Amino acid sequence: MPSLTLAHISDLHIGPLPRAGLRALAGKRVTGFLSWRLKRSKIHRIEVLDVLAKDLAAQQPDHIAVTGDLVNIALPEEFTQAHDFLKRIGPAERVTVVPGNHDAYVALPWLKAAGRWDEYMTGRHADGGDRPPRDMRDFPFVRRIGGMALIGVSTALPTRPFSAAGELGADQLQRLDAMLEQLGEAGAFRIVLIHHPPFGGGAYKRKSLRDAGPLAEIIAKRGCELMLHGHTHMSQLGRMKGPSTSVPIIGVPSASAVVSDHRDPSRYHIYRLSRGERADGAWTLTVSMRELKPDGSGFAPIGEIVLLGETNPPLTSPTSSAAA
Ligand SMILES: [Fe+2]
Ligand SMILES: [Fe+2]
Repeated sequence: MPSLTLAHISDLHIGPLPRAGLRALAGKRVTGFLSWRLKRSKIHRIEVLDVLAKDLAAQQPDHIAVTGDLVNIALPEEFTQAHDFLKRIGPAERVTVVPGNHDAYVALPWLKAAGRWDEYMTGRHADGGDRPPRDMRDFPFVRRIGGMALIGVSTALPTRPFSAAGELGADQLQRLDAMLEQLGEAGAFRIVLIHHPPFGGGAYKRKSLRDAGPLAEIIAKRGCELMLHGHTHMSQLGRMKGPSTSVPIIGVPSASAVVSDHRDPSRYHIYRLSRGERADGAWTLTVSMRELKPDGSGFAPIGEIVLLGETNPPLTSPTSSAAA
C-alpha cells in the first residue's frame, strides 16, 4: 500500500459574524453573540484561515478531516460562509466533516444548518446505504480511503445556554459498535472523527461528552486505530484502552486561533499512514504538526512523532478502496 496522508483541522469558528436582527439573536444566541463581540472575534480570525488554507494546499494531503465547530452561533448565513470555506480547501471527495456543538448552537432544520455541507458528510451508513446524514443524529458514516476507514460521528446537539456538552446517544453508539467490528474484521485502519474529546466529566463537565463511558466500553471491546477530536482548542494527546493495545487520541487546536495567551495558536496535523515498510507488515503512522508563525505570515513545522510502527501488532488482510 502506498502511503496516505490525512490532514486534520478543527474548530474553524469562521467569522466575522454576519449581520443579525434582534429576533435572530433571541435565546441562546445572545450569549454567543456577546461572547463573540467581547472575546472570540479577537481570537478567531479569518486571516488565519486564509493563511492556513494556503499552507494546507501546499502540503497536498490526500484527504482532509474537519472535526466541527465551523460556525459560532448557528446563524443561517454562517453555514453558507462555512460551505464556501470547505469548497476552498477541497472537493467533497477529499474533505470529510463532522459537526461540533457550535454547529448545533440552536435547533434549526438540518438542511438550513450543518446539512448545508452534507456532501462532505456523505458515506456508508450502518444500514448499508451510501448517502448524506438525514439529520444531526443520523451518524456515523464511513468513508474508505485506501486502507483507511474514516468513521464520522456526531456529538452535536442543541444545549441550554452556557453548556457546550456533547452526546452520541444510544442509537449512534450501537451503530458505531457494529461498524467498528465490521471494519476491524476487514483489516481497515479505523480513524474515528469526533468533535468532543472522548473523555467525560472532570472540571469541564458542562463542556464534555455525556456518554464518554459507554463509548469507552465500545472502544475497549472493538478497538480502533486512532481517534481525532477538536473542541478544547488545545493540542492534546491521550490514550484509551483497546482490546489489545491502547488507542491514540489526538486533539488539535482551533484552526483560526491567533498567537495569543488564549490556549494554543492555530495548528494542524498531517498523518502519514503506510504499510509494508516493515517486514512484519505493521502499520506505520507518523504525525507532523504545523503551527501559525508568531507574525501570522504562514505556518511552520513544530515537530513530528511516530505514533505506530514500533510495537503495534500486524493486522491481517489490508483492504483497498471500497465504495463510500
Ligand atoms: Fe470550538
Ligand atoms: Fe466545541
